[in-house]
Amino acid sequence: MAASRGEFSSRFGFIMAAAGSAVGLGNIWGFPTQAASNGGAAFLLVYLVLAFSLAYPALMAELIIGRHAHANAVNALRLISNSGPVRTIGATTGVIGFIVASLILSFYAIVAGWMIAHFLASGAELLSLDGASQWLTEFGFGRNILFMVLFMALTIGIISEGVTAGIERWSARLMPLLLITLLALVLYVLTLDGAMDGLKVYLLPDFERALSPTLIISALGAAFFSLSLGVGTMLIYGSYINDNENLPVVGGLVTLVDICIAVVAGFLVLPAMYVAVFNGVEIFAADGALISGDTLIFTVLPELFTTMGMAGVVVSLVFFFLMSIAALTSSISMLEVPVAYTIEEHGLGRKKAVLLIGAAITLVSTVILMNFGQLFGLVISITTQYSQPLLGFMFCIFAGWVWHRDNLLQELRKGNPDAENTLFWKIWPWYVRVVCPVIILAIFAQTLFG
Ligand code: PHE
Repeated sequence: MAASRGEFSSRFGFIMAAAGSAVGLGNIWGFPTQAASNGGAAFLLVYLVLAFSLAYPALMAELIIGRHAHANAVNALRLISNSGPVRTIGATTGVIGFIVASLILSFYAIVAGWMIAHFLASGAELLSLDGASQWLTEFGFGRNILFMVLFMALTIGIISEGVTAGIERWSARLMPLLLITLLALVLYVLTLDGAMDGLKVYLLPDFERALSPTLIISALGAAFFSLSLGVGTMLIYGSYINDNENLPVVGGLVTLVDICIAVVAGFLVLPAMYVAVFNGVEIFAADGALISGDTLIFTVLPELFTTMGMAGVVVSLVFFFLMSIAALTSSISMLEVPVAYTIEEHGLGRKKAVLLIGAAITLVSTVILMNFGQLFGLVISITTQYSQPLLGFMFCIFAGWVWHRDNLLQELRKGNPDAENTLFWKIWPWYVRVVCPVIILAIFAQTLFG
């Protein structure tokens, strides 16, 4: 391990950075859209259950292994393995994780680019540049590629600065503002005609629907995606936390912040959908399915801002700016995964590693954009719905079965001398060993064979 490793300067810095990674497009674009296309409240219910009962324990597995190993996922899983073949499986899991992280970034940069484009469109509208504003909000190859590349360039720029300087600074600043903006928008949307229909869909579950395998696997993927799990991001962040921190508490806070923002975003997007329907916008096809899930929020939110008159342009500017930043604090945590691995494994300088990997991901994004209809949804479902939960499963297996139990308990004692008396100590070690793997497998089995 040639490179010197950074460390977060404070607990607050870590929480902001990890929450910065967690909170992003998954919360405001992914979760509400999936809720909208999966029966609203039924999806919300299953999502909440899975987020607390599976995603949080899996997050803890990654954080704890990461802090113990102070290394990237490949080396960390190797380190806690006790035999040759298991070590190889560990390293392979880490490598697959970094490939998945890179693939996630390749579609993420496209959607994040749309956020930036909408932000600039509001700016253009303020300056009465109507032509520019229209081009920026329309789905077109030129616009899509331009803003994907811009977003990748921003991510690459920040990541080449290094851990504490780059990640912490960006994450700590604008997230509270995002939450306040969301809450204010929720209060506003609920005053509009049609909003109550959306609220009903979001809050009154159809319990039968909650048991559908497609819904459950989507909710599982959404929870793992939203908490940045499986790909080694949280493991890397764990590796930068110092030994005085009480991990179950900070991990719990990150989980709460993340889930809370997704749920609040649902209170905005679902009512906004029905407000748009009330105002004559076509959102549903004749069979009741969404016409386009990928771009749903880019239809209904601008429609909502229009109802505010001129003030709406400013609100839109602020909202899309904050969303672009939230996407950035997530994308930097994705790029950090392959970068940390390349630096530590191959001794490459940070700047070189960032440029090389960043360029490769930009290329993949370009290919996706050129074959949008075929590849965009496919890459999303392979990475978030299948790979992330399955990789999370592997982390649970490594924490629960491969890692020597004494070492795991010793790691839990760090930062909390009284650890033995906590509920977490009593439940988590066997829970992550048995319950998490079994439920994740059961969900997959149900989807494949059910
Ligand atoms: N959690 C991020 C979001 O919700 C996405 C992400 C996935 C980030 C995987 C890092 C790793 O937007």
